[in-house]
Amino acid sequence: MKKYSIAIVGGASSYTPGIVRSIMNAYDKMPIKEIILQDIDEEKLDIMGEYLEILFRDENFPADVKWTTSRKKAFKGVDFIFTQIRTGGLEMREQDEKVSINCGLIGQETCGPGGFAFAMRSIKPIIEITKDAVEYAKDAWIINYSNPLPILAEAVRREVPESKSLFICDMPIVQQMTMAATLGYKEDDLVFEYFGLNHFGWFTSIKNKEGEELLPKLRDLLLSGYKLKLVDFGHLDKSWIETFENIAKGVKMFPEYIPLTYLQYYYFPDSIAEKEKEHINYTRANEVMDGRRKKVFEECYKVIEAGTIKGFDHKLDAHGDFIVDQAVAIATDTPKRFMVNVVNNKAFTNMDEDIVIETFGTIDAKGACVNTYRKIPSFYRALMINQNTYEKLTVEAALEGSYDKALKALSLNKTIPSVSKAKEVLDALIVANKEYFPELK
Ligand code: G6P
Ligand code: MN
Repeated sequence: MKKYSIAIVGGASSYTPGIVRSIMNAYDKMPIKEIILQDIDEEKLDIMGEYLEILFRDENFPADVKWTTSRKKAFKGVDFIFTQIRTGGLEMREQDEKVSINCGLIGQETCGPGGFAFAMRSIKPIIEITKDAVEYAKDAWIINYSNPLPILAEAVRREVPESKSLFICDMPIVQQMTMAATLGYKEDDLVFEYFGLNHFGWFTSIKNKEGEELLPKLRDLLLSGYKLKLVDFGHLDKSWIETFENIAKGVKMFPEYIPLTYLQYYYFPDSIAEKEKEHINYTRANEVMDGRRKKVFEECYKVIEAGTIKGFDHKLDAHGDFIVDQAVAIATDTPKRFMVNVVNNKAFTNMDEDIVIETFGTIDAKGACVNTYRKIPSFYRALMINQNTYEKLTVEAALEGSYDKALKALSLNKTIPSVSKAKEVLDALIVANKEYFPELK
């Protein structure tokens, strides 16, 4: 049986131990010979590398772990490249959130002005990474867990169309698990339908194995005030609990579909911004820095100090399984249904062919493919065109260094109420990001 090599870009991320655990658990289906971590943060990379070396040794896991800051070295001969980059780190996420909230807007990682700033920092790096992947590992599949997904996918679609790139998000899967638990099912026992863009979509159908449509039941539960049964996906802090609770608020407005969690920012930006103002000194970035990041690195330090993994039991979320499931479908050429982010072509029949959409498709050795066709109802189509135009203009702003396009992008974003607010937050983000943004003229 072939043994695979996997490179992880952003290998020093606190998500790495979870992803590596998932790779280890999938060994029977996809045996691996090495994992190569690549990152620009040498110090954290050393810690993660040493930690994994001890893990592999103590669990007799028959693969090597290597680490390097060089993409060329990391990519040579690998079968898969997973990316999970965060240009500027959580420290810049904190800036994005706080600068936005300070302007009276929502402060969020991937939506609104925060998502725009995250994108402006990441567009050029993701293009460079993808170009290197094509150069040094031309047969490798690149599976991106990097955000903001739809904007990076658009950048890669334009600039490196020859790359074998997939883009994955765990949010729809987590929401499916949540909805299934609420209905008294396991996620696997239900078939969901969904259309939209990443972090911007709607579930349109939920059927059980008998073909019974359960969406009306879920809708009635939510409308009657019944709380969703939340599943622990490793970041169920207070802000995320509120986010899931707001699904019901969205259903009350437009009951035909179940909105993805992230739509709260586009439906209710004013009330969310108002609430976020109350904790401008402690945003989600602070929660993550004091929570996930601290916890993971503390464990790494302790294991390295003890020289053994024995006695440590790091509880991991399912995040890693989702990316590994896709790699397994490719490696074993076993077609499987996944939520995918792909170029529309003709799947959404009344929308442009060259936009990146999110919907269900199939993944196998040839990559992701959508073989269904649907006409998007006019209200949702208009929302998606607006959002997608914002995404495309953001890519153009970064690649062309265009202030005009950056301003137009933010002016379209539904979380920002006016062109003057768009300008105010753009100028503030440029100042906060002077080391990271492309120069905007
Ligand atoms: C979900 C989304 C990811 C996002 C993450 C943020 O999993 O799908 O795209 O990065 O939430 O979670 P955090 O715990 O960092 O706020
Ligand atoms: Mn996501």
